[in-house]
Parts: sequence; structure tokens; C-alpha cells
Amino acid sequence: MGIEVRPTEPDELRAASAATSISLLHSPMDDELWEKRKDGWMAFPSFSAWDGDRCVGHAGHFVVETVVPGGARLGTGAVTRVGVVPTHRRRGAASGLMKALVDDCVSRKLPLMSLRASEAVIYQRFGFGMAGDMLRVTVDSARARPVGGTDGATDGTVELVEPDEVVETVSSVYAKALGRRVGQITRPDFFWDRIYENAIKAKHGAFVAAHRRPDGVIDGFANYAIKWGSFDDDPTTGGLGSVFDLVAESDEVELALWRYLMDIDLIRSWSANCRPIDDPLREAVWDRRAYRVDAVIDEQWVRLVDVNAALTARSYNPVDVAITVGVTDPMVPANDGVWRIDRSGASRLESTADAELSVDIATVGAAYLGGVSWTSLAAAGQVVLTDPADDAAARADLLFRTDPAPYCGTFF
Ligand SMILES: CC(C)(COP(=O)(O)OP(=O)(O)OC[C@H]1O[C@@H](n2cnc3c(N)ncnc32)[C@H](O)[C@@H]1OP(=O)(O)O)[C@@H](O)C(=O)NCCC(=O)NCCS
Repeated sequence: MGIEVRPTEPDELRAASAATSISLLHSPMDDELWEKRKDGWMAFPSFSAWDGDRCVGHAGHFVVETVVPGGARLGTGAVTRVGVVPTHRRRGAASGLMKALVDDCVSRKLPLMSLRASEAVIYQRFGFGMAGDMLRVTVDSARARPVGGTDGATDGTVELVEPDEVVETVSSVYAKALGRRVGQITRPDFFWDRIYENAIKAKHGAFVAAHRRPDGVIDGFANYAIKWGSFDDDPTTGGLGSVFDLVAESDEVELALWRYLMDIDLIRSWSANCRPIDDPLREAVWDRRAYRVDAVIDEQWVRLVDVNAALTARSYNPVDVAITVGVTDPMVPANDGVWRIDRSGASRLESTADAELSVDIATVGAAYLGGVSWTSLAAAGQVVLTDPADDAAARADLLFRTDPAPYCGTFF
């Protein structure tokens, strides 16, 4: 019997969640956990794959907005809960599910889709390009101090947020800070309770520290956890800290929060799994080698669902060059076309014959936020240059590049 992909009915969501859990190396949720999570499952568009009456795969998305160059916020299908049970893999179930998700985003008129990938080899075939990396880092507190030197001090203060004030505090600061980096997304309401659960319950050494300006306004926060290292391994180990989320309205406040963390007695080192590739902290630590990059990992995979809407919504750098870019998209043929782009914006051309650069939908997704260079994509063979001797990729870089680097900071 073949595998059928279709929207999940409400009474099928638990079976879909079980298939997702099994695919992602977890046990199915027990009754207690399902009670806690089921509203989240009810709230999102959901598609599932079925072998007869057995649910064998799932994919869903929830709607957020992504900040694109120039500051516009574009509706985005944030893909999540993708999995096919091990007994039914490599039979096209995920392909059917991803097609259903893309079609759903087309019908909802969402210009973008975005996801975080378990493996980097899965999603390019569905039109997603890797649009921004992140860093996993460990920072040695003693060698990092003083962070930002004496010039980096703000006149603000740092305080611990009471557990029952965590969600209101962090969500309102996040809303004000949103837009400092291209690639950031609006965070759905469920995010806060889920990601801040330990700080809200005052469990597992989790805290939220907030930075308060002299005029009383809170303008930044850090969500972190601290614990003792293993005395069995090393009796002098001291404490270890993990930073989960650090958001501020300015670089200065961001560094003030790092300064607070680095100054906490007994903590030998801080780890953070999701830092921007051009992290200001790396420039601000006293000893540059105090900041150790443990891994560079792909953060956001972006798909243009509506190429015209996406290319015309972002801004381009004020440089006196122009470029024509041709795009092909086997899953959404309406995206096939050629765009002329210069400092004033992008416009679709009538002709499809004139593109200086030709790419598939995944490659334009990679370049879209301005963090991945056309020149390197061309060098990797992912861009077809009509005239290989031309500087078209370099011109595209002048127009597309964004600074600071794209970074989302929200894992889903
Ligand atoms: C990734 C996953 C969803 C793919 O499901 P699937 O039903 O096996 O995928 P499909 O059969 O539709 O495969 C489509 C193509 O992608 C390839 N592919 C799929 N998953 C792949 C992987 N993990 N590595 C390499 N190639 C992969 C297939 O070989 C196939 O290639 P082909 O078209 O050239 O034949 C499934 O392997 C899975 O559940 N993995 C564990 C959970 C996970 O990682 N989920 C993603 C969370 S972001």
C-alpha cells in the first residue's frame, strides 16, 4: 500500500505527535505531557503521512515574521515537527509532506519559509538554502574579563527577574529589540512558556537577568543556567554557565549583560549554543582566546515561497551597479522568472532570456538575507554565469550584502 499525505484531522494529532517523537529519537508523549502540549499541536497547520491507518510521518509549520534587509517583516512558515518513522523512510513520505507545506504557504500567501535542520543534506532539494550560520562557543570567564574594557560600561543596573515576571519582561524587551538583525523572527506566544520553563519555575539553576537603564526602563535580558561542575572529574572545577537567550536593544547593553555574567563568582566558563558569526562579544573579551568557537553550525534555512514578493520587499545597498538574476523553482513554477535589481529595488522582467546570474530556488534563498556571498556560491558551482568573465557575482554581492550578519537567535 502506498503512503498517503494529507492534512491531519484534530483527532489524529496525537498519532502524528507519536510519529514525530519516534522519528526524532524520543518516546511518544505520555498522557501528562500530551495534555501540556496538545494545544500547541492544535494551533498549527499540520500534515501527516499514513500507511493505512498507521501514522508514519508528520510536518507542520507556524506563522511568524522574518526581518529582511531594510527592515520589512515578511510572513514566514516556520517549519517544525518534521519526521518519518524509521520503518517508512526513503519512500517519499517527507517529499510529500514538504510539498504539502510549501503548497500551504503558497495558499496562505506567505513569502518565506524558514527552518532549522537536523541534518544539512535534507532540505536543499525542497528549495531551502542555508542563509546564515551561528556559533557554538565557550568563554573562559577569568580570561574574558574585563569585557568591553572600561569604556564599555553603561550607567544601567542588572537585576534578577522574579519568576512570575519572566514572560512579560522578556517578551516586551524582545519586541522592542526585534529588527536589530536581519533574519530575526517574531516569537509566537507558546515560545516563552516552553523555552523559559525552568526560569519560570525557578528550577535547574535557571535565571533571567535584566538590564535596567538609569531612567528605569528594562532594555535587555539574559536567560541562563548555572551549575556546579563535576567534583569527581576535577575538585577545583567550579561552576559552569549556559546562556540560552541574550537579547538587548543595543550592543552596549548586550555587553553589559555579558559583563554581569562573566563577573559571577565561581563560574569558570560560559557556553552558548547560538551566537551570531560576528558576535560583538568576541571583539570585547580581554583575551581574544578566552572566546573559543566550538562549532560553526547552519542556523537558518530559508525558502522563498513567493520570489517576487521576497525580492521586492527587501532593500539593496546604495551602490551604482545593477544585476539580473534568473530563478527556477520546480515546486512552485510561478517563481520561475528573471529580476533586475539595483539600489532602488527589484523588478520582474518580461523576458526570461536575459539573466546574468541563474540559480535554483535554494540558491536564491541562501543569498537572500545577504549573509552568503554570490561570489562563493558561484565558485561552488551553484550560480550559472551567462558570461563567466563578467563580474556579475561581485556586483550581486555589493547589492545584497548585509552587515551585521544575518542571525535569528530563535530555535524551533
Ligand atoms: C529526514 C527524513 C524526514 C526524510 O524522510 P524520508 O521520508 O525518508 O524522505 P524521502 O523518502 O522523501 O526522501 C527524499 C530524498 O531525500 C533524501 N534524504 C532524505 N533524508 C535524507 C537524509 N537524512 N540524508 C540524506 N538524504 C536524505 C532521500 O534519499 C531522497 O533522495 P532521492 O529523491 O534522491 O531519492 C527522515 O529521514 C527522518 O525522519 N529523519 C529523522 C528525523 C529528522 O531528522 N527530521 C528532520 C528534522 S529537521
